[in-house]
Formats: sequence, structure tokens, C-alpha cells
Amino acid sequence: MARLRFDILSLFPGVFDPFLHTSILRIAEEKQLAEYHLHDIRDYSEDKHKKVDARPYGGGPGMVLQCEPVVRAVEAVGAMGERSARTILLTPQGRRFHQKVAEELAEEDRILLLCGHYEGFDERIRKLLNFEELSIGDYVLSGGEAAAMVVVDAVVRLVPGVLGHEDSSSRESFAEGLLDYPQYTRPPMYRGMKVPEVLLGGNHREIEMWRLQEAEKRTYERRSDLCDDNTRDSE
Ligand code: ADE
Repeated sequence: MARLRFDILSLFPGVFDPFLHTSILRIAEEKQLAEYHLHDIRDYSEDKHKKVDARPYGGGPGMVLQCEPVVRAVEAVGAMGERSARTILLTPQGRRFHQKVAEELAEEDRILLLCGHYEGFDERIRKLLNFEELSIGDYVLSGGEAAAMVVVDAVVRLVPGVLGHEDSSSRESFAEGLLDYPQYTRPPMYRGMKVPEVLLGGNHREIEMWRLQEAEKRTYERRSDLCDDNTRDSE
């Protein structure tokens, strides 16, 4: 049994496949540090045409996901596996997802992600399931799938042992509230642009200091909002 189990409920589970089985997420699965279970909400519809949505009461555009298939799907999937899951609904109306939330989620052993589609969910689904709601940003996607991928990716790379270099995730952008410092690799000169001398020198203390200064400078110039810790924590 892997260290962290994801259950993803969606109307389009097929869109996750290449994403979950490539690069870091695949490595995590191979190392049995994460496992991904996809579930098609439509499989839980009792309608003979597998319908899961209907027009909104009161009129208006689009279709609304119905209670019955969604609640049945969540209850059935929740009962799979031995552990109880932290349950999350992806919606633009949720709490903002950011690195601190990812760190918190990486401590869990099971996470259930419910992706909405169309114009949203019947409000009684929200009331009944009482899921934690997360938004990946202030824009409206046509479904929660891309948002679920963002969450899985940001969380899995924080699971200890997933990244080769044990502390590579804690050194990068946001982990310490700073944007990443600039990185260089071979060759030392490209189209007249030189790699900063300090990085070629091999003095680790100087390199650490230079990187910290660069990270601070970049954060201040590009994201001064991150320099104010209170802003980050209350997001
Ligand atoms: N579904 C649609 N838009 C979304 C967003 N911004 N975050 C999370 N889920 C969503």
C-alpha cells in the first residue's frame, strides 16, 4: 500500500492518465509513495442514459450536476480502501490553494478530490458532503480536472522520498516564502552571457549567500506581496 492514496472523481477521468503516469508522479507511484485511483461519476448514475446533470431550477445557462450520482459516487469511493480520506471539492469558490496547503496535504495518507463540471453542483451536494473546498486561483476553468492535477502535482512532490535529492522541494520557490534563485548549467558562456563567477568558484558558503540574496531580490521585485508574511498565511 502506497504512502499516499488519491481518489479522483470526475466526469472525464481519461484526461488524467498521461499526466499521472509521467515524470515525478510516475516515479512516486513506482516507489510506492503515491497511488492514483480514478473514478467516473457517470458509473454511479442510475439513469439508463448515465445522465448526471440537469437544467437549473429557476432557469439560466448550462447544466447542474445532480445530487444522486455524485453522492453515490463519493460514498462508494469513500468506502473503498481501509483509510478514511480527506475530502476536497475543486471549485473557484473554495479557499485558495497555495504551498502551505500543499505541505499540509502531503502529510495525509488519503485524499479524495471531487471535480465539478458544467455550471456547478446542486447546492445540496455541498451541504450533504460538507467537503473542504479549494480553488487554484481567481479564474473559472471549465472543470475541476486541471485544478485537481495542480493539487496532485504540488502535493506528491512534497512526499518524502519522491524527489531524488531529499531537500530539493524545500529549497525551491515558496518553500521558504521566496521565489527561486536563478539557476545556470553548462556551458559557462552562451551568446555573450556569462554564468555568475561565484557559481563557478565552488565556495559553498558564498554560493548559498549569493542564492539567498538573488531569491530575496527577485521576490521583492516580482512578488512584493510575498515579502509580507501575514499576507501569505491568511490567504
Ligand atoms: N473549477 C473551475 N475553476 C476552478 C478553479 N479556479 N479552482 C478549482 N476548481 C475549479
